[in-house]
Amino acid sequence: MRVLVTGGAGFIGSHVADRLLARGDEVFTVDSFDDYYDPEQKRRNVRAASANARYRLIEADISDAAAVERAFDTARPEAVVHLAARAGVRASVEQPLAYVMTNEVGGLHVLEACRRRGGVPIAFASTSSVYGASSEPPFREDVAADRPLSPYAASKRASELMVHAYHHVHGQPAAILRFFTVYGPRGRPDMAFAGFTRALLERRELRLHGEATARAFTFVDDIVDGVLGAIGWAARTRALGPFNLGRSEPVRVRRLIELLAAALGVEAHVRVVELGISESPVTAACVDRARAELGYDPKVPLELGVERWCDWCERSEEAPAWLRPASRARA
Ligand SMILES: NC(=O)c1ccc[n+]([C@@H]2O[C@H](COP(=O)([O-])OP(=O)(O)OC[C@H]3O[C@@H](n4cnc5c(N)ncnc54)[C@H](O)[C@@H]3O)[C@@H](O)[C@H]2O)c1
Repeated sequence: MRVLVTGGAGFIGSHVADRLLARGDEVFTVDSFDDYYDPEQKRRNVRAASANARYRLIEADISDAAAVERAFDTARPEAVVHLAARAGVRASVEQPLAYVMTNEVGGLHVLEACRRRGGVPIAFASTSSVYGASSEPPFREDVAADRPLSPYAASKRASELMVHAYHHVHGQPAAILRFFTVYGPRGRPDMAFAGFTRALLERRELRLHGEATARAFTFVDDIVDGVLGAIGWAARTRALGPFNLGRSEPVRVRRLIELLAAALGVEAHVRVVELGISESPVTAACVDRARAELGYDPKVPLELGVERWCDWCERSEEAPAWLRPASRARA
């Protein structure tokens, strides 16, 4: 299959691209290497894939409609995985326009490019943040999701509604994928795993946003399984569906800190601060629908995922220097 992956140099996108290559697909990554976090990290994410003859990197900004059209003309994709986005809840409060431009306008350009080519099936990344104040955990796909708590969540929900309209009017096949707190190798530096790991390695105090805050931490390999299932589902059914991709049991962030500290062999100094108003206290996914229709079956428990994360920080050339234990960083 020829698959176009937007945001394919990012955390989740680079894993999706690697897995598609491993199963023999041709992969076209579209990414702008934006500076929301260090673009060098993204260069390292795609280094291995770039050596593959079935891989092509297209540097383009999805908020530029003509650039998206050119990328689609080059790739002639049979399926699209749309992951390019401004992600990150807190930054969206400061920079809402950037979120509208990439997530809503850029998302529309990608959708439009799919429609113009007869409805190329798309797996469209969304987020558990769309549930906002709409639902008690575990979140189910059938709630209205009309009370977002951040500009990020609002931009993703707006894109979901546009996908709905494209399906209704044009029959555009689409799996809308609501990811829940994804972690693992290549994880984003603005997320809890990287932030806590860095603070622990530097023997700094950690800020825990709310003692009872809990998340459905989901290992990136499990998410990739779901994304691949979703491409197949959209191509086969040509239907529209929102799917949760996460885990059902929320784990306290306090527990994550304990696991990381134990794995790194350091003591954690934690200061509890208030949870920001843009964030949900607890997230958990009902995954019945994804299990039944996409064959989604998350396998990696947090304990194992933490081990894999720490192993990557310690051993992989992809990891930034600030995530390496001192012995390695000096080497
Ligand atoms: N990581 C999570 O826990 C999580 C949770 C819920 C939803 N998501 C969603 O999953 C997707 C991937 O997230 P991620 O964590 O891998 O983030 P990421 O920031 O690592 O990846 C996004 C990629 O998109 C690229 N990009 C940004 N703006 C662009 C533009 N205008 N044009 C082209 N490329 C652009 C970035 O350079 C980056 O490589 C996003 O849509 C995000 O909202 C992620």
